[in-house]
Amino acid sequence: MTKKTGGLAGIVVGDSGISTVGKEGLDLNYRGYSIHDLAEQSTFEEVAHLLVHNTLPNQQELKAYREKLMNLRKLPDSLLMVLEKIPAATHPMDVLRTGCSMLGTLEPEITREKQRDIADRLIACVPGMLLYWYHFHQHHQKIDTTSDEKTIASHFLYLLHHKKPDPLQVRAVDVSLILYAEHEFNASTFAARVTTSTESDFHSAIVTGIGTLRGPLHGGANEAAMELIERFKNPDDAEKGIRELLTNKAKIMGFGHRVYKISDPRSDIIKEWSQKLSAHATDGYLYPISERIEKIMWDEKHLFPNLDFYSATTYHFCGIPTAMFTPLFVMSRLTGWSAHIFEQRADNRLIRPDSNYSGPKPREYIPIEQRG
Ligand code: COA
Repeated sequence: MTKKTGGLAGIVVGDSGISTVGKEGLDLNYRGYSIHDLAEQSTFEEVAHLLVHNTLPNQQELKAYREKLMNLRKLPDSLLMVLEKIPAATHPMDVLRTGCSMLGTLEPEITREKQRDIADRLIACVPGMLLYWYHFHQHHQKIDTTSDEKTIASHFLYLLHHKKPDPLQVRAVDVSLILYAEHEFNASTFAARVTTSTESDFHSAIVTGIGTLRGPLHGGANEAAMELIERFKNPDDAEKGIRELLTNKAKIMGFGHRVYKISDPRSDIIKEWSQKLSAHATDGYLYPISERIEKIMWDEKHLFPNLDFYSATTYHFCGIPTAMFTPLFVMSRLTGWSAHIFEQRADNRLIRPDSNYSGPKPREYIPIEQRG
């Protein structure tokens, strides 16, 4: 493989105290806490508190934070009307982009003192935003976007399936939300920081993040990975198909990473969940297909699965439609984006890099009537 330049690869563009992504021998951590400890022992709300409010909460704080988020789930009527107007065929990421933007007009950021409340509001109400639109268009139902479910994972699954969610699935989604929450200067976070650096408002920075996350080279990879895995009938079929794709120089979604070079520390954690869930799923055969794809990618290209690859089957085995995979990433990454917006604001300078000019040399202007 030849080493490519561009894309700001390897260029340090600022300081951040929110997470390390395999730097200086450190594992991925959020504010110093290892992702392994968090995924094993924490819940997403604790991680959200850590990122948005700077500390891991004690039991009382966690209870209060969960209650706060539960009380912020109801959506304004005019936002519900907008969601009803968004066409049924729209990609759910566009629904969230529009919904967050609309919320920014209804509940604009007037003072920065409220920035953490705005972050909590978005974290609390985005699942309902997506699922109100979904049920309105798919089932002609105007759902209640509140529920008695105490966590975002269980609230999301409850609103999606309208039944008490399975605890194993709740924990799988909860862990995935922990893993997706924060990842330093990735493309969407950096884009959100650029918007923040112009002293723009909170919602604009979040909408920037959503638009950037949508692409298949970033968050959209979990959906693209699912579409790939589902194409195959069994592991041998997958092996043949992947070899053909590689021969044709296709990119295999859910593999490779800009920063990690040997493995993505989040992948093994979510892979375990995919395996656990596959044992209970009607189409559990997709798990051995995924494993075979992983093996071929390593043997042929020395490429490893990133978080998106096994997140795809994890979500699929929870009965989540593929088009909601990247929106789930949003539900989680809202916490990381928020932490970066606060950090950028606390020590801001306009982000405005230079470029090398590669256009034409200065030339004579030709008036329009003489241009032929
Ligand atoms: N499948 C096949 N080949 C891949 C690959 C993949 N998923 N990821 C990287 N490569 C190859 C590239 O084709 C390139 O080969 P070449 O030098 O022969 O042209 C080489 O590895 C370097 O890749 P490049 O795209 O330049 O790396 P990058 O740092 O710019 O990109 C990603 C990183 C993540 C964008 C890239 O690995 C990718 O597109 N992965 C698939 C999408 C994905 O999973 N995104 C989620 C990221 S968390």
